[in-house]
Amino acid sequence: MATEKKRVVSGMRTTGKLHLGHFHGVLTNWLEFQQQYDCFFFAADWHALTSEFQHPEIVSESIQDLFLDWLSVGIDPEKVTLFIQSKIKEHAELHLLLSMITPLSWLLRNPTFKDSQGEADNKNDDLATYGFLGYPVLQAADIIIYRSHLVPIGVDQLPHVELTREITRRFNYLYGEVFPVPKPILTEVPKLMGLDGRKMSKSYNNAIYLADDEETIRKKVSQMVTDIQRARRKDPGDPEVCNLFPLHPLYSSAAEVERIKRECPRAEIGCVECKKILMQNLLTKLAPVREKRCYYEEHPDLLREIIENGNDRARKIAMATMEQVRDHMKI
Ligand code: TRP
Ligand code: SF4
Repeated sequence: MATEKKRVVSGMRTTGKLHLGHFHGVLTNWLEFQQQYDCFFFAADWHALTSEFQHPEIVSESIQDLFLDWLSVGIDPEKVTLFIQSKIKEHAELHLLLSMITPLSWLLRNPTFKDSQGEADNKNDDLATYGFLGYPVLQAADIIIYRSHLVPIGVDQLPHVELTREITRRFNYLYGEVFPVPKPILTEVPKLMGLDGRKMSKSYNNAIYLADDEETIRKKVSQMVTDIQRARRKDPGDPEVCNLFPLHPLYSSAAEVERIKRECPRAEIGCVECKKILMQNLLTKLAPVREKRCYYEEHPDLLREIIENGNDRARKIAMATMEQVRDHMKI
């Protein structure tokens, strides 16, 4: 293990399967990071419980799906430490200790918390919990317990990593330099629309999932909204406003993309044909992903072993950090 490599930590909440938006955003980045950094990627099941505490079965069932999604796209368990947050109890201990030094005002002004506590009609009672308020403190513990240098995240998570940095500095100031102050790396998320023309998202139920089979993908692509101004085949279309077009550069050849850009505005190509091209290319690109997923589904022992090895590796480091933390805090 090359210890001089910079360490990267990131987690995903276990609230459901991943879709193409995740693939082209977060996971593409993870695939790059695993080549050059010492990466720790984990299933954040405790964080998932902050919103899903009424459906704990969703949280636990999603763990397996999440690992399958990661492995299927090529996250390599030989290079990366994959683990489950709740299996490393040290995160909880560090969360508790960090909560002692985290001013309430920092948490109350966290936008994720503030927005959830809005006025009567958009208020989410489920999120008016102690656990949800402390969400970023747990996230800080997740990150610094591995002494990570870098944290890849989407822009929505930036306030949480900023808080992590503040909490880390405060810890180091109070008890001595134990932790590096981690830096966020922002993940560029391509603009991917869902089937209905809104942003691709699990909550809109408009996504194409990595786990979808061929039949489902065909059906979804053929249902997809395109350029809503283009009502008839003979009407010209506009790839710039078309909902489906942004998928083409991700899956189709440069020549195909050029052809569509040229022919769509002259009504020389119809949406049905355009979708067929996309469908074919999408299925070709996703075939090896599906194959890998099948392999792991058929070898549950292997998957279990990967997770257990990852948990063990993570736990060793977390335990060593906690020794030092207790020592510095005189516990
Ligand atoms: N809060 C993150 C999200 O919702 C998930 C997460 C939990 C995380 N712990 C983390 C991300 C630590 C990066 C580092 O996406
Ligand atoms: Fe969109 Fe393709 Fe139809 Fe043009 S031909 S509107 S790019 S689906």
